Amino acid sequence: MNIDKSIGIFDSGIGGITVLNEILKLLPNENYIYYSDSKNNPYGDKSETEIFNICDEIVKKMFFEYNCKAIVIACNTASTKVANKLRENYPYKKIIAIEPAYKMVYDYAYDKPTLVMATNGTIQSEKFNNLFKKYNNHKTYLLACKGLADLIEDGNDEKILNYLNDNISKYKGKVQNVVLGCTHYPLVQKEISQILGNVTFFNGAPNLAKHLKHLLQDEKSLNISNEIGKIVFFDSSNSKYKKERFFKYLYV
Ligand code: DGL
Repeated sequence: MNIDKSIGIFDSGIGGITVLNEILKLLPNENYIYYSDSKNNPYGDKSETEIFNICDEIVKKMFFEYNCKAIVIACNTASTKVANKLRENYPYKKIIAIEPAYKMVYDYAYDKPTLVMATNGTIQSEKFNNLFKKYNNHKTYLLACKGLADLIEDGNDEKILNYLNDNISKYKGKVQNVVLGCTHYPLVQKEISQILGNVTFFNGAPNLAKHLKHLLQDEKSLNISNEIGKIVFFDSSNSKYKKERFFKYLYV
């Protein structure tokens, strides 16, 4: 299969599909290579150096082996920790990165109490802390959801629900905004709603998709084909289960 001139997209696992699905709504005719790095999952508990080395290998492969025209980092942990360093390493290439949608709260629902859910790595990162200081509404709880992305990867519904009950029930009635600061979490949005009730979710993926479209438009590098693009999936541990789960959530 010719996968030249595609858009590369990666995450520590299948969570980045929530970003790809938003991109597909705007750019259905592009070709995509999705790389699920389950061999190195989770990124959330790794050091910056470890994450950089892992992501640098992926990015290098995508640009120079697969000839991708742009890369989307569909992982908030990798984005907040190493996106800038990766951009410095590949200054002439397009690297687009998701980030926790805390600025959206500032823009649209500043006065409402907010829960930010993200990995420990994201919550601790300098980039997120700068964002938090800049847009702080002084009614925000930061919750490092250690282990949640792993549970979502594994897909055991009962364990996911138990985890959420144990960790977020205490915010019921206290928050009205929820920032989904990890790309895995939109996959359990329904379950979060079941526990927290009627809350508004904030997710950076739709804006990232718009940004990517504008960028490709400006550079005249959109795929002009009228056919629906191809989507190629790789998993770094060759997991058949991950592949099945990825295609189950595609276009959902
Ligand atoms: N999906 C990743 C994110 O958005 C995190 C998962 C992990 O910890 O590996 O942060």
